Amino acid sequence: MTINDYIELINKKLDEFIKIEYPQNLFKSMKYTVTLPGKRLRPILCLETCRILGGNIEYAIPTACAIEMYHSMTLIHDDLPCMDNDDFRRGKPSNHRVFGEAVATLSGDALLTYAPEIIAKYSKNLSADTILKVLTEYFNYSGARGVIGGQVVDIESENNPNVENKQEVLEYIHTHKTSDLFCLAMRTGAIIAGANTEILSAVTEFARNFGLAFQIADDILDEISTFEEMGKTLGKDKQEGKLTYVSLYGLEDAKCKFSCHIKKCYDIMNKQNLNSKVFEVIINKMIERVGI
Ligand code: IPE
Ligand code: IPE
Ligand code: MG
Ligand code: MG
Ligand code: MG
Repeated sequence: MTINDYIELINKKLDEFIKIEYPQNLFKSMKYTVTLPGKRLRPILCLETCRILGGNIEYAIPTACAIEMYHSMTLIHDDLPCMDNDDFRRGKPSNHRVFGEAVATLSGDALLTYAPEIIAKYSKNLSADTILKVLTEYFNYSGARGVIGGQVVDIESENNPNVENKQEVLEYIHTHKTSDLFCLAMRTGAIIAGANTEILSAVTEFARNFGLAFQIADDILDEISTFEEMGKTLGKDKQEGKLTYVSLYGLEDAKCKFSCHIKKCYDIMNKQNLNSKVFEVIINKMIERVGI
């Protein structure tokens, strides 16, 4: 499977999983952000991890799509005026600009519970034990000790001169708001493939480093990229006084830290035989965008 094959498959399934029903505005708002053209990195990494470890990607589709739904929820809420206050997402007006703040907040809430419901309802080929493991991963990485915790510290650190231990706080933010979702995607792919604990910890380490590189790249691109390339308003991190790798270390050191996490990804891939053309293409695109 190429990246485009994966994107086509994921988009088709996402469209099938969210049908417009009553209350229509709610379902339309949920479907709006989910079906806008995101890069689909998390579901691709979930399916590809499953495939390279000998699993059947069909079995991982509900989980991969659920993770993209959860991710879309984080984007809807992240763009709200009370958070990053962004008017554009995936090249189009943000959810609250189209549906209003109340419905955008509620459609994010709805996606948060719709996602595990999809896993439980449609993972027909998985044993009850595997479904429970996948759901436990979902709750672990998506909640207060995971992505949401990272988002809270991100918001609390904005324009805040009182943050002590900035380096550790920044690592906490990036580990949780971003790496945790990549860990969830790749770990669930591995669990569905029946991976043993050694492989699972290698996959987790890969995802952690990939996620950190990804968020550092996002911070760098916020300074150097364009709306056309990214589909969102740029330059906002600096404007809002966000604690990012660029604000703390400067552009060049941020690039070095990015390269360091990418190198770790390659080391893990080589050492653990996690070889995948798809992983390589995704990583190379990131390197190209950051301009290293
Ligand atoms: C955006 O993620 C949020 C971050 C973690 C920086 P993506 O850059 O993967 O967004 P989409 O899914 O392609 O829109
Ligand atoms: C967001 O990080 C990570 C999420 C959990 C949504 P950012 O706030 O940097 O993401 P963008 O730049 O708005 O996509
Ligand atoms: Mg944010
Ligand atoms: Mg944001
Ligand atoms: Mg950003």
